[in-house]
Amino acid sequence: MKISIFGTGYVGLVTGACLAEVGHDVLCMDVDQAKIDKLQAGVIPIWEPGLDAIVARNVQEGRLHFTTDAAQTVQHGLVQFNAVGTPPDEDGSADLQYVLAVAQSIATHMTDYRVIVNKSTVPVGTADKVKAQMAQVLSERGQTIDFDVVSNPEFLKEGAAVGDFLKPDRIIIGIDTGTGPAANERACALMRELYEPFNRNHDRTLFMDVRSAELTKYAANAMLATKISFMNEVANMAELLGADIEEVRKGIGADPRIGYHFIYPGCGYGGSCFPKDVQALARTAEKIGYKAELLQAVEAVNNRQKTTLFTKLAAHFDGEASLRGKTIAVWGLAFKPNTDDMRAAPSRTLMDALWQAGAKVQAFDPVAMPEAQRIYGNNPGLTLFPDKYAALQNAAALVICTEWQQFRAPDFAEMETRMCGKVIVDGRNLYQPQKLLSDGWHYLSVGRVALS
Ligand code: UGA
Repeated sequence: MKISIFGTGYVGLVTGACLAEVGHDVLCMDVDQAKIDKLQAGVIPIWEPGLDAIVARNVQEGRLHFTTDAAQTVQHGLVQFNAVGTPPDEDGSADLQYVLAVAQSIATHMTDYRVIVNKSTVPVGTADKVKAQMAQVLSERGQTIDFDVVSNPEFLKEGAAVGDFLKPDRIIIGIDTGTGPAANERACALMRELYEPFNRNHDRTLFMDVRSAELTKYAANAMLATKISFMNEVANMAELLGADIEEVRKGIGADPRIGYHFIYPGCGYGGSCFPKDVQALARTAEKIGYKAELLQAVEAVNNRQKTTLFTKLAAHFDGEASLRGKTIAVWGLAFKPNTDDMRAAPSRTLMDALWQAGAKVQAFDPVAMPEAQRIYGNNPGLTLFPDKYAALQNAAALVICTEWQQFRAPDFAEMETRMCGKVIVDGRNLYQPQKLLSDGWHYLSVGRVALS
C-alpha cells in the first residue's frame, strides 16, 4: 500500500520506518531540507534504539523514501499521515498551525480521493478543523474531491518506540460519520488494510468516533501523569511521616486494581509529552468552561516535584547560599533512560537552580551529552565528562536525575576517592538507604526518611 507521511520528527519517522518494515511503500516529507538530506544519506536525526537499522534496511530495499516536495507526497499515498509538531502556544494550548498547513497542502495538490490520518497529538475537534480547512481550499479550487479525516493517535514511548509500533497494545482509529463507524466504509477498509500486518495474531484495532479517539490520547497520558503525581504526593508525605514510599509502592501495587506499573516516585515527569499534554487538556477544559481541578493539581504537583532535588541539596548544605562556589556532579541529563531527549527534564530544573545559586555542575549522561552541548554549549557553569566517575572529581555532592542502568550498581569506593563530600541526592531511589548509611554516605532519596 502507498503511504505518505508529513513530518519526519519522532512520530513521523518511526511511523514511516515501521510501516515500510511491514511492506508498505512509504514516502516521508519534511520542509527541513537539511533533515531530508541527512535521512537520504542514512543519518537519523534522533537517538532511538533500533530505528537506524530499520530506516537503513527499508531505504536500501526501496520501500522508504524521503522528500521535501509536498505535491509529490500528496500524489504518492492514498493514505496521508499528518505527523507534524503541535508545540504548546503561550497559554499551553496545542498550536495547530503546522497541522492545518499540511491539510491546506494536501487539499491544494490532491486530484483524487485521499484519507488524511491525524497522527500528531491534537486537541479534540482538530479533525473537524482539518476537514473544514480542506473543504475551503477545495472549494477555492472549484473542485469536489472526496476525502476522509481519521484520528489515529500514537502511543509510542521514547526509547521503546520501534517495539511499541511493531507490537502495539491497541490501534485507535477514529472515523467520523455521525452515523456510526460502519457508515464510512472506504476509510475503514483502508485503515484495516494498512494495519493488517500488525493484527494477524489478534485484532488490536478499536474503531470509534473521531472525538473519542482524539480524547483517548490525552486521557491516556493524563492518567499516566496522574499516577506519577499521586505517587510523588504520597512520597513527600511519607518523608514527613517517617514512612518508606518504596514499601508503600509495593504494598499498593499488589492490588491488581492498582498494579505495579507507572507508580515509581521520583523527581517529576518530563519529556515532550506528559507536561505538554496535561497542560493542553487543562486548557481545553478551560475553553469549554469546565474546571479540571485534578489536571491542574497533577501539573502543579509535578512542577513542585521537579524542584525537590535542589531543595534537598540546599537543605543538606544549610541553605541555598552555601551552595555558592560548590561543584555538584549530576548523573543523567535525559528525562528518562534510553533517550537523549532533555525536553522538560528534571535535570534542567536542577541545573538552572544550581547556577542561580552560584554552584558549578559537572555532568555525565550515557547518550544525552551532545544534546546538553547543543542546549548549554557556552554555559561556563556546566562541564560534561565522558564517564560517570570523571564527573565526580572534587564534587561536594552527586545528584542522580535519570535511572540509567549503569548508575544502579556503581563502585562506591571509587566514587568516594573522587568526591570531596559523601553526599548523594537520588531522584530515582536506586540504592538501599541503610547500606549507604552504614558506609558513611549522606543519602537523600525520594519518599524515604533522609539518612545522614
Ligand atoms: C509517554 C507515554 O508513556 C506514551 O504512551 C505516549 O505515546 C507518549 O508519552 C506520547 O504521548 O508521545 P514518553 O514521554 O516517551 O511516553 O515517556 P514515559 O516513559 O511515559 O515517561 C514519562 C515520564 O514519566 C518520565 O520523565 C519518567 O521518568 C516519568 N515516570 C514514569 C515516573 O516518574 N514514574 C513512573 O513510574 C513512570
